[in-house]
Amino acid sequence: MLAVYAAKGDNENPLAGLTVGQVPLPKVPEGWQRVKIEAATVNWHDVFTLKGVGMHKITFPIILGCEGVGTLEDGSRVVIYPVMISPGYIGDETKDEKRNVLSEIRDGTLAEYVAVPPANLLPLPKEIDSVSGAVLGIAWLTAYRMLFTKSGLRPGQTMLVQGSSGGVTTALIQLGVAAGMRVWATGRTAEKRKLAESLGVERTFDSGETLPTQVDAVFDTSGTVTWKHSVASVKTGGTIVVCGGHSGFELPTDAFRLLVDQLSIHGVYAGTLDEFRDLISFVSARKIKPCVGKVLPLSEGFEAFKSVHEGRTQGKVVLTVGDVAV
Ligand SMILES: NC(=O)c1ccc[n+]([C@@H]2O[C@H](COP(=O)([O-])OP(=O)(O)OC[C@H]3O[C@@H](n4cnc5c(N)ncnc54)[C@H](OP(=O)(O)O)[C@@H]3O)[C@@H](O)[C@H]2O)c1
Repeated sequence: MLAVYAAKGDNENPLAGLTVGQVPLPKVPEGWQRVKIEAATVNWHDVFTLKGVGMHKITFPIILGCEGVGTLEDGSRVVIYPVMISPGYIGDETKDEKRNVLSEIRDGTLAEYVAVPPANLLPLPKEIDSVSGAVLGIAWLTAYRMLFTKSGLRPGQTMLVQGSSGGVTTALIQLGVAAGMRVWATGRTAEKRKLAESLGVERTFDSGETLPTQVDAVFDTSGTVTWKHSVASVKTGGTIVVCGGHSGFELPTDAFRLLVDQLSIHGVYAGTLDEFRDLISFVSARKIKPCVGKVLPLSEGFEAFKSVHEGRTQGKVVLTVGDVAV
């Protein structure tokens, strides 16, 4: 079958190990399901894998991709919950010490087929098309947990999203707008800020620009490069929620500001299966169409990764297998 995989890790030149080619069909462990992929996505997580960076030791080659939509042998359409947990573990999946997401230990979704435990498969409501459903597993689930579980924001409060065009940042914007928050966003270019405006944000700012007033919560997916601005932009008693660090994981924080102004900082790792169900229900009920910037066939995996790696995104980048309605 055709797959997009990491043949090796290279921290300096991550695309050096990126390969689009034929691989054997996945072995399906007893009780697992083989999913025929219709649409899967590129996340910055895959770039980390190509760099050789991950929570677990990476065994190369490994098929990339942690989210996707496909069909089972009986033809039913499913969306993949990507957090894999230890056998018998009960509780918040994101807190299992042995948790991993698809493509960290097991082969991922950027292929014609993927093997998945049944507990990680949910039916996709018919009103959500396959391309839209494919972005929900990691980018949207993480944004959902950041916004609804961790930030403590109420409708009417103001949130700043650090970024306008990425997977998690567009999800935060669309979820925040749909939930009645006043959403502000930074964007690195006028084109990216325009995208955020088209998704319903109230105000946009250049990266690092001083805001007219501090906000109730800041959402940071980039790490070092945006962190100082995130801390400066939150009001007394406010919250910063962080999920990523592709610009660096050092987050230098003025502890005096932190304690005097009683700031809260939350880290987020994906989301629980219950949050995933609720996200699907919210997207379906509110008829949200996730922002997808590019849909390419799986064979064009290299172009898809190049655009994510170079920051040339205008929403999620999705790869499809066969004829998939967009
Ligand atoms: N903890 C988790 O479970 C989890 C889940 C999903 C993702 N993540 C992490 O979240 C991060 C984003 O992932 P993604 O897949 O959404 O990536 P992505 O689609 O490539 O988006 C990257 C975002 O970061 C912003 N950005 C990048 N470099 C920047 C810079 N130098 N200055 C300002 N902003 C910058 C971009 O802003 P512009 O729009 O202005 O270009 C864009 O919105 C990654 O670090 C990823 O590993 C973590």
